[in-house]
Amino acid sequence: MSGGHKACIDSAPRCGKIILHTNRTVQINMNPTLTTPWQNLSALAVETGSTHMRQLFEVDAQRAERYRTKACGILLDYSKNRINDNVMTQLLALADACQLGARRDAMFVGEHFNNTEDRAVLHTALRYQGKEVIRVDGHDVLPEVRAVRERCYAFAQRVRSGEWKGFDGQSICDVVNIGIGGSDLGPLMVCEALKSLASGPRVHFVSNVDSAHIVATLKHLNPATTLFVIASKTFTTIETLTNARTARQWLLDAVGGDESTVAKHFVAVSTNREKVTAFGIDANNMFGFWDWVGGRYSLWSAIGLPIMLAVGPENFDALLGGAYEMDEHFRTAPLAGNLPVLLAMLGIWYVNFLGARSHVIAPYNQTLHRLPAFLQQLDMESNGKGVRRNGERVAYATGPVIWGEPGINGQHAYFQLLHQGTSLIPVDFILALRQTGTLPNHQRTLAASCFAQSAALMRGKDADEVRAELTARGMPEQDIPLAIPHRVFSGNRPSNTLLLDELTPRSLGSLIALYEHKVFVQGVVWDVNSFDQWGVELGKQLASGIEAVLGGATNAGAYDASTQALIACVRELLR
Ligand code: F6P
Repeated sequence: MSGGHKACIDSAPRCGKIILHTNRTVQINMNPTLTTPWQNLSALAVETGSTHMRQLFEVDAQRAERYRTKACGILLDYSKNRINDNVMTQLLALADACQLGARRDAMFVGEHFNNTEDRAVLHTALRYQGKEVIRVDGHDVLPEVRAVRERCYAFAQRVRSGEWKGFDGQSICDVVNIGIGGSDLGPLMVCEALKSLASGPRVHFVSNVDSAHIVATLKHLNPATTLFVIASKTFTTIETLTNARTARQWLLDAVGGDESTVAKHFVAVSTNREKVTAFGIDANNMFGFWDWVGGRYSLWSAIGLPIMLAVGPENFDALLGGAYEMDEHFRTAPLAGNLPVLLAMLGIWYVNFLGARSHVIAPYNQTLHRLPAFLQQLDMESNGKGVRRNGERVAYATGPVIWGEPGINGQHAYFQLLHQGTSLIPVDFILALRQTGTLPNHQRTLAASCFAQSAALMRGKDADEVRAELTARGMPEQDIPLAIPHRVFSGNRPSNTLLLDELTPRSLGSLIALYEHKVFVQGVVWDVNSFDQWGVELGKQLASGIEAVLGGATNAGAYDASTQALIACVRELLR
């Protein structure tokens, strides 16, 4: 990795045009549908559409072996996909034709890859462990990254050791992270995943502005032993600021309004020093980060403070280490053995060539129960875009709906639709075999259930098999024809299985980075800017106007009739 701010384009594109608008912003104008691999894949989709995966396994004893790869402690079995060698060759050729290598390198060296906000995209710098310099606009960012991390670690240690005292001299027992979106989901997901390693204060998360969330959280807490982390990249997010004000008042009520106590119980994580101090939090109690860290990519920054508080700096270091290992794998492994590239291109196959519109994340470990929600923001806020980087409307599908719940619970809920519903919905099965404190007999049942589901989705059960089963069970012959259609499984339903030897901070770091890069690769192929989120702005603008109206400030004339009627209902109820 090298510094500098010139775009690092290492090969000429085979299609489209490289445009360096400025020496800081890389723009590769690339319509994927005009590439040869895209055309080839369209033809292959028709050809392979009639081949059942069950047949593919029957005729190819090596299939499981061939479509499997392992890196960073994560085994990816992608053999239960509707693919053959031709499909894989063309998918990888598509990635190549879309200049994946050049765009990846541009991101890693600090180009302004986020072109609509003219910003670098450098969450990878937060976990970088090599010896090179990483520059943004000529400025070496690593010394600052390390300095903030050291401050966070020192602070976390003071709280964890009991040295940091609250207003009456007691140590901190509970930490409440107040944030939303990327300032909540990442740290929350990781804290849950690593719960078995928790050794510091109890960590709670408040995100919803519905007062039920903060009220229920504070109900059992003692102001004297509670520390609030106000996490907001912009420090303008209404939900977070409203909850932060309520928390502040809760503290002040307990100390008879003594403002000097705030410094002992409030810290902020933000890029916006001015707003933090305006809120009343001392700049000394603020941990910063940078505009080149996207909210949904920020858990590696000071936004990870709740993780450091819960499991300690050493485990946070291991999390960063695992992510760095995946970064290096993504940067250097050939496309055919590159985990993020494989996951991304398989997703593209289903979305753009086989008509899938959603994708399930099914972690089997309970501790990964917030992973689907985290990945939902990561993926949908990144690739839920309808225009290309150059502003042209896309003429193809982009980011699918990402959804899911822990798989074992899902089996008793949404899996029915995956097996027999009318939509094609690829699934990522994620299973870590061990974790601190696991009970082997439980894990056997867990693993068996996970593998059974992917096998069932792939092979299905045909009418002959159902008939034989019903006959063996003694069902009267005349009842069998009616029973068969309900019990037939078409199968041929794709899935990936991601197997982790153990869920550790390190393997979790690798897993998260794997999905970050998967999202990146898909954004490259779709030629969208995966790093802005303009789509959330309109709702925010309207909400602030409606809130003013609800408070009686202006009239509701500017809104549509439906919204005006709803406003009237609320005014009536809250009168
Ligand atoms: O509204 C979406 C969003 O901007 C996310 O991208 C972000 O993670 C979240 O809100 C929270 O933003 P902030 O950290 O600035 O409060």
